[in-house]
Amino acid sequence: MEKLLIVDDNNDIRKQLKWGLSKDYTVLSAGNAKEALAFFRKHQPKVVVLDLGLPPHESESAEGFRCLEEILADAPNTKVIIITGNDERKTTLKAVQMGAYDFYQKPVNLDELKVIINRAFHLYNIEEENLRLHLALDSKTTELGGMFGQCSEMLKVFSTIRKVASSDVSVLIVGDSGTGKELAARAIHSMSLRKDGPFVPINCGAIPESLLESELFGHEKGAFTGAHTQLQGKFEYAHKGTLFLDEIGELPANLQVKLLRFLQEKTIQRVGGREDIYVDARIIAATNIEISKAIQEGKFREDLYYRIGVITLNLPKLSQRKGDIMLLSNLFLRKFSAEFGKKIKGFSASAVELLESYNWPGNVRELENRIQRAVIMSESSIIEPHDLGFTEKPARQKVTFQNGMTLKEARDKVEKEMIISAVERHNGNIAKAAVELGISRPTLYDLMRKHGI
Ligand SMILES: Nc1ncnc2c1ncn2[C@@H]1O[C@H](COP(=O)(O)OP(=O)(O)OP(=O)(O)O)[C@@H](O)[C@H]1O
Ligand SMILES: [Mg+2]
Repeated sequence: MEKLLIVDDNNDIRKQLKWGLSKDYTVLSAGNAKEALAFFRKHQPKVVVLDLGLPPHESESAEGFRCLEEILADAPNTKVIIITGNDERKTTLKAVQMGAYDFYQKPVNLDELKVIINRAFHLYNIEEENLRLHLALDSKTTELGGMFGQCSEMLKVFSTIRKVASSDVSVLIVGDSGTGKELAARAIHSMSLRKDGPFVPINCGAIPESLLESELFGHEKGAFTGAHTQLQGKFEYAHKGTLFLDEIGELPANLQVKLLRFLQEKTIQRVGGREDIYVDARIIAATNIEISKAIQEGKFREDLYYRIGVITLNLPKLSQRKGDIMLLSNLFLRKFSAEFGKKIKGFSASAVELLESYNWPGNVRELENRIQRAVIMSESSIIEPHDLGFTEKPARQKVTFQNGMTLKEARDKVEKEMIISAVERHNGNIAKAAVELGISRPTLYDLMRKHGI
């Protein structure tokens, strides 16, 4: 439900309005300017109903004007509806000149007021949508299913997505971590004929091998110890929709065979089941490793690669999309400023220089995180380089040992520390962290459970 803020010093009126409007809106109410502004900043309502005569001087409008001014300075698009007495023509006029959306004269008739409020929300939403479209069409900026870009590399990506979306073939999305693989998969789904069906993502690298098979294909009751009931897998959930297999390079050999069989025959078998189940799902897969290398090393089936990679979509690194960095930075700045209720206008010249020259190993995700951090940290209306957190050393503390620690305690501490940092370094990719630590994936899972990671 949309949020509506009511500001009136009269308790009875507040109660009456709240009672009358709560069916249609989430109603917040405040009795003075301070409370009103605090609610406003916290909840960011699109529409405010404001009585100008607020304490400490209820008979004047000064406090009400101040409140109106602050609300509009914070969020100029807010629709503020002024409630006035009979003889307050001049003050009403002034409020409208200051940017109030509309006014309403006491005594309040709930049905009439409802019409005005409803129209205010409607207008707000239209303006917002217009702004979004305007941003998308702004100069050369292009948006496709939530992906933004204007450099030639991304325009190529968009053009491929448009072409493949409606064709129902499998797509393999290749790109480094944080380049937007999942976003691209969702864009393809949302533009396909399956858009009203489910989009089912599963990360093949994040689920222990022993569980992955029944996650994907489901299992019959009694298929193995612990299989107390029949379970549908992700394939079946994706019926009439799209199954997104993230980190396909991590798919174990036996499941590669099952996937290949699905791609050829459109049927699957649950673990412990004999029945062939027909599933109508489109496969989109993603990987951040070079599949050709995995094929050479015998880890990935060549025949599966040919089936699944009928169309390959390559997402460029962010460092290869220099022309998009400020576009994305501004996009994230607007998004997080609104989210955290901050008024930040832009970036200083040195911040721009930094953003454009940095190498972005974590790609768009890193950019998004850094801008989010900057919006939270910034104390002025301009983002400066230090807000972006480039100068800080990694915050992780070195392991320290206290006197009187047993050898076992010390060992545990080092073990935990090494596991955390390896998992972090690989962005939560357990398989890679296990390789680095020189242990098997199940062992790493056991250790993580033991240390409560
Ligand atoms: N072109 C883009 N425009 C706007 N936002 C983007 C774009 N590309 C990526 N993002 C945002 O960056 C973040 C990372 O994107 P996404 O999760 O799709 O990347 P990924 O390639 O799947 O990463 P990983 O390999 O780490 O799983 C998301 O929050 C996404 O919304
Ligand atoms: Mg991803």
